[in-house]
Amino acid sequence: MSEDNQLQLLRNEVARRRTFAIISHPDAGKTTLTEKLLLYGGAIQEAGAVKARRATRHATSDWLEIEKQRGISVSSSVMQFEYNDHVINLLDTPGHQDFSEDTYRVLTAVDAAVMVIDAAKGVEAQTIKLLEVCRLRNTPIITFVNKFDREVRGPLDILEEIEQTLKIECAPVSWPIGMGKSFRGVFDLLTDRLLRFRGGEERRSSDEEIIQGLNNPRLDELFPGEVETLREEVDLLREASEPFDRERFLEGMQTPVFFGSGINNFGVQEVLHALIDWAPEPQARCAAEREVRPEEQPLTGFVFKIQANMDPKHRDRIAFFRVCSGRYQPGIKLKHLRSGREMRIANAQTFMANTRKASDEAFAGDILGIHNHGQLQIGDTLTEGETLGYRGIPYFAPELFCKARPLDPLKAKQLQKGLTELGEEGAIQVFTDSMGRKLLGAVGQLQFDIVAHRLQGEYNVDAQYEPADIYTARWLNFPDKDVRKQFLQRESASVAEDVDGNPVYLAPSRYKLQITQERFPNVGFHTTREHGEVLEQG
Ligand code: G4P
Repeated sequence: MSEDNQLQLLRNEVARRRTFAIISHPDAGKTTLTEKLLLYGGAIQEAGAVKARRATRHATSDWLEIEKQRGISVSSSVMQFEYNDHVINLLDTPGHQDFSEDTYRVLTAVDAAVMVIDAAKGVEAQTIKLLEVCRLRNTPIITFVNKFDREVRGPLDILEEIEQTLKIECAPVSWPIGMGKSFRGVFDLLTDRLLRFRGGEERRSSDEEIIQGLNNPRLDELFPGEVETLREEVDLLREASEPFDRERFLEGMQTPVFFGSGINNFGVQEVLHALIDWAPEPQARCAAEREVRPEEQPLTGFVFKIQANMDPKHRDRIAFFRVCSGRYQPGIKLKHLRSGREMRIANAQTFMANTRKASDEAFAGDILGIHNHGQLQIGDTLTEGETLGYRGIPYFAPELFCKARPLDPLKAKQLQKGLTELGEEGAIQVFTDSMGRKLLGAVGQLQFDIVAHRLQGEYNVDAQYEPADIYTARWLNFPDKDVRKQFLQRESASVAEDVDGNPVYLAPSRYKLQITQERFPNVGFHTTREHGEVLEQG
């Protein structure tokens, strides 16, 4: 293929890709929306009614046993499907706040997000946190206000809350008529037509009624009680609310807002169309050295997630790799920047709704699953030779700590192995103190439960977990060797090493942290550190 043709191929493939995540507070309807989107993409044939899923505690995107037991989405998964000649990569994020680190990492790999809001509950705690994360990268957000088939809050009220709480401008692009038992449908403000709601269908039927124009007499005929309110509200909106502005959306300043009912498949297709028409194609990404354009020939990308035991039949660990430029083809030779080694990738995987298959080719925006025996870690960059490192996937200073001890002392090695692997996977942070003891650090309590469960199930280790008396951790860097020596002499009992050998100060209390910082004003105390980063130590 000539160079021009190759460039054209890359441009075309990039242009038809959309990579996004759905974010929501638990129970707002993320799983339901995911299933309906997959249904449109033909990736699944039947959306398991979420109720049924809950009953059996199993969903297409749930892999880990513990998810089934608790009915929450713990691990993130990736699903690729095609729709209208576009390749859609949907990245699932754990809704539970205890997995905020994992969610953060997933959000570094997307170009857009869909935010689901429960219309009865409005903006909830986890929505606020997730949006803050999107803000850090100005990720464009499409909003879906869900559950209008129930008695919920008024749409104006919800818009106001989104604007005030999340500090993002709302541009309603559809408007609900009624709610609960009197939910009649959604008026599309951009095309000036009404989609009439009939509940209870898996797919919207092709003979559904579309009524063109706000003044169409058919509306008076069908909804004599509600049509006047609709007209008033639409007039008001057109005067008072911001019109949809794609530029502002792409800058992350404005969110188009859709209303609907995920479970009834109402408003879902509109969200999918918005993703295709408005959400950005894979964008240029900043590596430490330079900006990389998605249509550049050589393949580059980074690992944003490691997941073990996705398939219980194969005890494998998969590194999720976001392609940032170039083209993957089986057999490609890539340089692993952290180790400087070359890797030949023969059988990277593409993930569909509930299966995965060997990928034939992949382009910027796609997520590949690379089989991994510990060589790949979160944050690692792979390139076709260029020395280039993608940045921006941090570890956060944990706030909860515990010590792990095997009940059977003969299992100490197993415990060590398990913790090291789970630490590399990002399931938990593992520190080693000056006595060689392992300390686990987490952002949320549930992370400990998962680790205990997995150590038992995957490594056959029953361990005892005792809370450790630590207030928080700070990564240290020292201006010179003398300061380092002084610090370690004085504080050795509170200093541990992280997985990459960086020194970490484990503060027993807030007060002690403050005193120590005052005593060593030249020492850096950091609340985050990049994956794979080795801090300079004087
Ligand atoms: P999540 O992934 O964000 O946690 O939410 P999920 O899709 O699992 O949905 C949470 C609950 O909300 C489910 O009820 C689901 O059926 C319901 N739901 C989702 N979309 C809609 C909608 O458009 N209308 C209505 N009325 N309900 C919706 P569930 O499994 O029965 O649990 P629960 O209702 O007993 O809590």
